[in-house]
Amino acid sequence: MYSESNHRMTPDESASLTPSGKNVRTARERVPRLKCIDAGSDYCPCHLAEAGECIVCSVIRGDAECSCDWTGTCILAQNRWLLGHGFRRESRRVEILSREDVGQGTEILHIRTPPKQASQLTRPGSFVFVRGRPEGCYDTPLAVVKAFPGRREIVLAYTRLGPKTKTLAACKNEIWLRGPYWNGILGHQLVESVHGERVILILSGMAQVCGPNIARTLLRNGNKVSIIYGTKGYPFVAPYLQEVPAAYFINLARPSGWREIRSLLQQLRPYCVFSGGNDEQHALLKKNMTDLALEPRIATSKTHKMCCGEGICGACITVADGVQIRTCKTRLAPGEWQSNEGTRP
Ligand code: FES
Repeated sequence: MYSESNHRMTPDESASLTPSGKNVRTARERVPRLKCIDAGSDYCPCHLAEAGECIVCSVIRGDAECSCDWTGTCILAQNRWLLGHGFRRESRRVEILSREDVGQGTEILHIRTPPKQASQLTRPGSFVFVRGRPEGCYDTPLAVVKAFPGRREIVLAYTRLGPKTKTLAACKNEIWLRGPYWNGILGHQLVESVHGERVILILSGMAQVCGPNIARTLLRNGNKVSIIYGTKGYPFVAPYLQEVPAAYFINLARPSGWREIRSLLQQLRPYCVFSGGNDEQHALLKKNMTDLALEPRIATSKTHKMCCGEGICGACITVADGVQIRTCKTRLAPGEWQSNEGTRP
């Protein structure tokens, strides 16, 4: 898909080896073609374009030639001659409409948002940054469970774990919210382009929050959707997935769990699968699909750490094949540009 992905080090580049002996190319240097989740949106050109570090536009990065993958919007034209920059996402105080303790330290929040923002958050992989105190360092990314533009409302879920989420639990009627962001999953291309096929969603742990937005998109595209809940207790997203008639409850912590999944895969033979869970779940799913001679078309939830969501702070950077990938901005498929060095700047 990305034709420049076979780019290898030139003599000039090898001169820029880091002290560890690894050549780490930044977005400013010659990099393979990457896709940006914000390209062509209201939020493009972004902070990275302003800093000459756009991950899509090679001319903004200082190259003489354009090598972009046309998205319907020329980021260079927008950046230099038309807009200057797109909208900026800013934190705003929003009202908490209701909150529900669903057990094991997890709480569901219903939040008042403008209808436009709610409708932007219906896309698969949508998330927002929220905090319970004015200081920006308390920002934490939360996936959007469901958005109701007509009701001017979105639903978020979090588990009390550290200082950020404990502060969220302590706040009363309002929180600060910044968004929309969309890069909470790997494999947007697969989820958003599949039509009229059988698709299975396997949802476990906190990653079950990805399910409702993905199911909504799949159903709208005429797919037959089945859900496998892989949690021990009752899945708290189930009330937001009532439109999916076929649901199976399998405790993946039990030794027999994967045998049951395998038999369902064999019976349903899905065109593709979404795996919301941990990396071990994604790997086991891929192995089982391959064993059953099913093409392992898999989209997954994301486990990269995020701090700013704008490509600026570097918290989400992974280095793969000598290239720094800002995973909060770059649209990736599972396994594509997987980290092989674990280096951060
Ligand atoms: S989260 Fe800050 S650069 Fe990606």
